[in-house]
Amino acid sequence: MYKALMTEEMKPWRDLLMIHEFAVTEILTKLNILDEEFRVLHDYNPIEHIRHRIKKHNNIIEKLERLGLEPTVDNAKNNIFDIAGIRIICAFQADIYQVVNMLSQHTDVEVIEIKDYIENPKPNGYQSLHMHVLIPVYLSSGTVKTRVEIQIRTVAMDFWASIEHKIYYKYREKAPKFIQNELKECADMISMLDERMFSLKMKIIELDTQCVGEECSNKFPRESEHY
Ligand code: GTP
Ligand code: MG
Repeated sequence: MYKALMTEEMKPWRDLLMIHEFAVTEILTKLNILDEEFRVLHDYNPIEHIRHRIKKHNNIIEKLERLGLEPTVDNAKNNIFDIAGIRIICAFQADIYQVVNMLSQHTDVEVIEIKDYIENPKPNGYQSLHMHVLIPVYLSSGTVKTRVEIQIRTVAMDFWASIEHKIYYKYREKAPKFIQNELKECADMISMLDERMFSLKMKIIELDTQCVGEECSNKFPRESEHY
């Protein structure tokens, strides 16, 4: 791990990345437990899947340069808040807020910022909920509170963001106006789709609760039976 950062002068960078890796592991453990507990107790799973990444050394340097800062470890620590990134993909919007609530209740998770781009989408249509937290990482030398950026979005929002991200890079940030407009329209359709799918789910739940006895063979599949 981090072989390129093994020289004496690069060690502070290696340590910075390592601590963020540990912080991600801590949060992932919490998420996996919450996910599994929910599945067992409530027969429902608010998390569809989780991705994570540690920002690469050269990308940190690039971002510092973009911010007009010297490429030092201290500047990275104090100015780059997405060295550790976790992306949680949920089926429904309601699940997103449920995950936020569950995580916020952990006494060792300190929520320092929440940006709700679902309530207030970006002008281009981007939707997601961003949560910045501090999590203690216990090292032999002591405890280091480490920042993690958690992005939580629905499957549909994730679909939009991933296409938009590719277009953004293809046009080096200056996509033609008609493409920007079309993307915004797609974002509006994504919101509508999320709402309709949620209302469909609620209707199915209602049918399920009305249905008792043997005639209910058409019940929605239990979470554990699909993948
Ligand atoms: P950076 O963009 O990382 O410097 O952070 P920021 O302080 O501007 O925060 P913001 O919450 O706007 O964005 C953080 C991250 O969210 C980005 O690095 C992307 O991963 C994601 N993101 C934000 N805006 C967009 C967007 O318009 N499109 C896509 N695809 N992703 C976005
Ligand atoms: Mg970022």
